[in-house]
Amino acid sequence: MAEQASINLGLEGVYFDESMICKVDGVEGKLYYRGYPIEALAEHSNFEEVSYLLLYGKLPTKPELESFSSLLSSNREIEPQVLEYIKTMAGKSHAMHVLRTAISMEASLDKQADEATPEANLLKSSRLIAKTGSIVAAIGRLSMGAKYVEPDKSLGHAENFLHMLQGEKPEPEKAKMLDLMMVLHAEHSSNASTFSTIVTGSTLSDLYSAAVSGIGTLKGPLHGGADERALKMLYDIGKPENTESYINGILSSKERVMGFGHRVYKTYDPRARIIKKYLTKIQSDSTEEVQNLASIALAAEKMMVERLGKSHNIWPNVDFFSGPVYRHIGIPIEIFTPLFAVSRMPGWCAHMLEYWGNNRLIRPLDYYKGPLDLKYVPIEQR
Ligand code: SDX
Repeated sequence: MAEQASINLGLEGVYFDESMICKVDGVEGKLYYRGYPIEALAEHSNFEEVSYLLLYGKLPTKPELESFSSLLSSNREIEPQVLEYIKTMAGKSHAMHVLRTAISMEASLDKQADEATPEANLLKSSRLIAKTGSIVAAIGRLSMGAKYVEPDKSLGHAENFLHMLQGEKPEPEKAKMLDLMMVLHAEHSSNASTFSTIVTGSTLSDLYSAAVSGIGTLKGPLHGGADERALKMLYDIGKPENTESYINGILSSKERVMGFGHRVYKTYDPRARIIKKYLTKIQSDSTEEVQNLASIALAAEKMMVERLGKSHNIWPNVDFFSGPVYRHIGIPIEIFTPLFAVSRMPGWCAHMLEYWGNNRLIRPLDYYKGPLDLKYVPIEQR
């Protein structure tokens, strides 16, 4: 009797493991990191504290946060060989290619790269979190033809990122806004890039290889690559009054509107709801370019929610409103997706360390539908 196979394309609706890290409630539109609602973390926490929460499973005491933050800031230096590579390639290749290669090079220079103890993996997590920030800021700055700026140990993670990107100490309001965006992007259960990180580590490969898998996966336009494309769409629309016809054009050609829809959220993405609050603020208090982008984004959201919200469960996701906020902060579009990787690194590492605590090789089945026992035909007779 032919075996029965129930196939879930894209592993839709499949639970591959249990986890204590993140709850994504796609029906109610709620998000929790280690049990804390994202709204509370957005209002009261910061990227360093959220990274600690994700990695260690609890909010840190003051001394714990201080030592974790100094562990991060002391690991910000980019290895000289990696910096040389970035100087040759920044601006000449997509920033995600440069980031992926830079992280691979960091692995080849880390003596602990293949050490598999929990302590070594926690240390490597801190290195990856710290260095990914420095590397992406350096890629962004060198892509603009500006001179490299060394990391500043006295600054927080988001502050230092802007300092290395823009060559000056950032305005506190913009550093706080970037820190919030990093908190909102830090973790999201078994999304595609986190899952591919875990698949890589499930063979007992190393944390750097797992992180490189995550970077490669995040790059795609159906995932982290949507933020760059969503902003390009806003620039293409040009003016709020063009929004309706532009989006109708996308929908009638059966294409996807970038920054909308989600495999799990069948309601408003709670992160998009938080970012939207900033948008209404910068709609009247930013450069003309950004104010215009914000107005177009709000017009597009209104139209998409009316057209596809309740009827098709297609709502704004975390990538839709990010663009105008990042432009307000002065982030070049070329490093939008790499910045997503900067924020998501703690989530990738936390899931990898959790999975290694009860590791099982991930090896699903595919249902073979082809012929069997064919007779081999020598090439002369083909
Ligand atoms: C992220 O998983 C995570 O948690 C990811 C993430 C995280 O934090 O890690 O939240 C980050 O990746 C957010 C998603 C960013 N991607 C985009 O914004 C790209 C545009 N969105 C779509 O490609 C899509 O919504 C996905 C990929 C996000 C989810 O798609 P699914 O679950 O595979 O659904 P689907 O593609 O099968 O779409 C179902 C229907 C289709 O219509 P029909 O063919 O059945 O008629 O909904 C339509 C789709 O055409 N649809 C859209 C749409 N998204 C889905 N139509 C227009 N615009 C869209 N954006």
